[in-house]
Amino acid sequence: MAAGLGTRMRSGKAKVLHQLDGRPLVNHVVQAALALDPKSVCVIVGHQADEVKKAVKAEFPDERVCFAVQEKQLGTGDAINATREMYGNGDSTIVVLTGDVPLITSETIRSLIDHHKGEEAAATLLAVELDDPTGYGRVVRTGGEFARIVEQKDATEDELLIRDINAGFYCFDARKLFAALGKLGNNNAQGEYYLTDIPGIFRSEGEKVSIYVAPDHQEVEGVNDRRQLAMLETALRDRTIKSLMLESGVTFTDPSAAYISSRAVIGRDTVIYQNVAVEGSTIIGQDCVIRPGTRIVNSIIGNGVEIKDNSFITDSTVGDGCTVGPMAHLRGHAEMVEGAKVGNFVELKKTKLGRKSKASHLTYLGDATIGENTNIGAGTITCNYDGKNKHQTHIGDGVKIGSDTMLVAPITVGNGAVTAAGSVVTQDIEPETLVAGVPAKVKKVLNATAPGPETDPPQRVKLTPEESLSRIESFADRKEQFIASIKTSKD
Ligand code: UD1
Ligand code: CA
Repeated sequence: MAAGLGTRMRSGKAKVLHQLDGRPLVNHVVQAALALDPKSVCVIVGHQADEVKKAVKAEFPDERVCFAVQEKQLGTGDAINATREMYGNGDSTIVVLTGDVPLITSETIRSLIDHHKGEEAAATLLAVELDDPTGYGRVVRTGGEFARIVEQKDATEDELLIRDINAGFYCFDARKLFAALGKLGNNNAQGEYYLTDIPGIFRSEGEKVSIYVAPDHQEVEGVNDRRQLAMLETALRDRTIKSLMLESGVTFTDPSAAYISSRAVIGRDTVIYQNVAVEGSTIIGQDCVIRPGTRIVNSIIGNGVEIKDNSFITDSTVGDGCTVGPMAHLRGHAEMVEGAKVGNFVELKKTKLGRKSKASHLTYLGDATIGENTNIGAGTITCNYDGKNKHQTHIGDGVKIGSDTMLVAPITVGNGAVTAAGSVVTQDIEPETLVAGVPAKVKKVLNATAPGPETDPPQRVKLTPEESLSRIESFADRKEQFIASIKTSKD
C-alpha cells in the first residue's frame, strides 16, 4: 500500500517517496517483498501515482512488479480493493505490506507467512508490543483470543492502554479477503474503509485469525512524520556502522558523525573520519583513509587510497594507492588508475588518469584520457566544449603539461611531449615535442636524433607608446579570434 499522501509529513511530496538511506520508503518495502520470490508484487499507488511508479520501476525493472491505482484514498481497505481485478479470483495467499514501514525484513515476512500457513488461518497479522503504542492500531483480545483491531482515533481509554499493536503486515486467504472487503463500512473517526476491520469481520464469522509476534520492534516502526523518518534514518545508520566496525573491521573516529549507506561495502583497517558521507552502493577497499568532509557516491575506491578533506566523488573509480584531494571533484565515470594523484581544486569528468600520473593543483580534465607517468601542471584545462558538442583530449605517457595550459579539444598529445607554461594548444602535438605560445607552436623536438626547428631567442625591444598601443590592439584582435575558436570548459 503506497497510495496515501501522508498528511503528517507536511509535504508536497507523497510520503512513500521520501527517502530513507537515499532511497524512497516504498522501495525498501518492495525489496523485502521481492526477496520472498513471490508470483507478483503489486504496488498500490494513488497520490502522485506516476512519480511513485517511476521511482519503483527505476530501482526494480523486474516484470513481477506491477501497479494498481487507487483513485481516491478512502482508506487501507479501499486500497486493497484496487487489486480486486488482479487477485480477486485466485486461491492464492495475499501478503499485505505497508509502504511506510521501511525497515521490515524479508525474514520477518517469511516467518509471518510460515505462521499463517501452519495455522491454516483466514488471516494472520504481524503484531508487536511497544512501550509507546501511540498512533498505531491496537490488537484487542477477549479471553486471550484475538477479537479485533481498533485504530488509535477510535479507541476507548481502556483500549489505548493496550501495548500490542498492529504492525501493518498481514496474510490473507484471497477469496475470503475480497468477499469481506465488500462488507467494510466507513463509520469511524476518519471516515475511511479500514483494512484493519477485516480480521474482526473474520472473527465474527467464525473464521480463524492468527497473530504472529515480530521479534524486533524497530523493524515495524512506521514513518508518519519527519521526526519518525529521522529516527529510522539514525537507527538504520547505527546498525550499518556497528556492523562495519564489529564485522568488517572499519575504524570510525566518530560513529555518530559518519553517514554510511547500508549498501556500502568497506574493507578492513580503513579509517573513516567525522563528517564523511558514503552513499549508494559505494565500495571502499582496505587500508584507506577518508578524511573529514568527504562525500562518496556510487563509486569504487581501491585499497590503500587516501582521500583528503572535503572531496566529492560520484560515479567514479579510484585505483589502489591513489591520493585524492583535498577539495577534489571526480564525477561522470572518472577513473584514476593505480598510484595516480589528484590534488586540490582538481576536477575530473569522464576522464581516465593513468597509472602514477598526477594533476596536483587547480585543473579541469573533462572527456580526456591520460596515460602513465604524465604530469599535468597547475591550472591546466581541457577546453572540451565548443558550445554545442563535447570533444575528447588524449594525452600520452610521460607527458609534461606546463602550468596554465589550455588544451583545445579535440586534441592529441603524443608520448613524452611537453607544453610550456601558458600554452594554448590548438593542434595535435607529436611525441617528444615541446610546444609553447598562443597558439602553441613547436619549439623543439626533444628526441636528440631529430633536431627541432630553429627558434629565435626572445629579444627585448624598446617600443614607442604608439608602437606599443598597436601591438596591444593586434593582441586584442588575436585574443578575439581565439576566444571565438577556443572551446570553453563548461560542464
Ligand atoms: C495503519 C493501520 C494501523 C497500523 C499502522 C502500522 C489502518 C486503518 N491502520 O495506520 O492499524 O498500526 O498502519 O504502521 O490500516 N494507504 C493507501 N491508501 C489509503 C490509505 C493509506 O494506500 O487510502 C497507504 C499509505 O500510503 C501507507 C499505508 O497505507 O503506506 C498506511 O497508511 P497510514 O495512513 O499511514 O496508516 P496508519 O494511520 O499509520
Ligand atoms: Ca503509517
